[in-house]
Amino acid sequence: MLDSNLFPYCDGTLCCEGISLQKLAEEYGTPLFVTSRNSLVNQYRAFEKAFEGLDHFTCYSVKANFNLHVIRTLADEGCGCDVNSGGELFRALQAGVEPGKIIMAGVGKTAADIEYGVRSGVLMLKAESLSELRLINDVAGGLGKNASVGIRINPNVTAETHPYITTGDSKEKFGVDETDLDEVFALLKALEHVDLVGLDMHIGSQIFDADFYHAALEKLLDVLAGARSAGFNIRYFDIGGGFPVTYDPQKPATPIEQFAEKLVPLLEKTGTTIVFEPGRFITANSTVLLTRVLYRKRNHAGKEFVIVDAGMTELIRPALYQSYHEIVAVCQHDSVMVADIVGPVCESGDFFARERTVDRVEEGDLLAVLSVGAYGSVMSNNYNGRLRPAEVMVDGKKARLIRKRETFDQLVQNEMF
Ligand code: LLP
Repeated sequence: MLDSNLFPYCDGTLCCEGISLQKLAEEYGTPLFVTSRNSLVNQYRAFEKAFEGLDHFTCYSVKANFNLHVIRTLADEGCGCDVNSGGELFRALQAGVEPGKIIMAGVGKTAADIEYGVRSGVLMLKAESLSELRLINDVAGGLGKNASVGIRINPNVTAETHPYITTGDSKEKFGVDETDLDEVFALLKALEHVDLVGLDMHIGSQIFDADFYHAALEKLLDVLAGARSAGFNIRYFDIGGGFPVTYDPQKPATPIEQFAEKLVPLLEKTGTTIVFEPGRFITANSTVLLTRVLYRKRNHAGKEFVIVDAGMTELIRPALYQSYHEIVAVCQHDSVMVADIVGPVCESGDFFARERTVDRVEEGDLLAVLSVGAYGSVMSNNYNGRLRPAEVMVDGKKARLIRKRETFDQLVQNEMF
């Protein structure tokens, strides 16, 4: 749910901070992602406040929104980054994040990714298998360096969320099984170019119940004791991301303070620096997607369709996870209608809402799809020859283009005759 102080209606028109979204749509065209800079800063600060007093370090999970300006805004606040690939590491470094504040994750890092991470001097590479540990050792040795590593544990805790975004269950590909840890520790002793400095978990995303973290943490505390008795000096304890946000006002997210209250007593027991990797919590409600109504039509069954100029190519979450995003008219109305809000892509799954009661709109009107700052633009694609949209960041009364709209030439630039 957006912060109405940062996305207020001014004279009947939805604004981002001090700027009318209608004006932005006219200036930059649609579809358009519009981000409130102050929303990012407020969310980061709220997260920090919830965990103040705990020895911790927050690494924003760049995968949620990797725009350089978003990363830079958070880095300016002192935040580090969690990256999942060489490409995300490149983005974080381009945005000016210090390598010593970057953690490199990823279940399938290539030798090139690992080499880039080690050469850059990231704080820690997370390893998810015995084979990966051997590869990190080989790559670091080849560079004449030692790599600091963390082991991602799969705690076998099934967090309640969409099945595609639960990651701490032993059915999933992530992490090392608790039962393999003796072998992992033995291997680590034998490898000369890796230093075990951290333990890690990430049990999923949009998790409403802190009990799932609690259950996983209890298991990790046993692993920590095991690692210490095996002689390892564990300095970081990374509990991943997954903290929830409100998309649907009917289903409010558990406040972050409740997570802190429940988890801090356990985290303090570790005697380590706790690492958090929030993504969605920081960015989800910072951004809206502006889209224009192209057509309205009603079919023989009386179904009303609103066809807009954005679709699953710009925001795939409804199609992929059946996720709910609020949709409002940019120019306020007092009448509503029941309609499917659908995109222009050639797929029946290309919808933002079905049978939804929404503000009445006519062809040419603007709609705002809300809470799209996490896993929105980053998951956009060129299917159906669609151009990735432009992105604008607003700070008070200033708006800045932070990503240009793609062009037809860019669609074919890597293809050769
Ligand atoms: N750390 C790791 C290792 C992760 O894999 C993720 C997310 C995060 C941190 C950040 O999680 P967050 O705080 O944002 O929940 N595309 C999906 C979400 C996929 C999450 C993938 N991993 C969606 O739109 O819901």
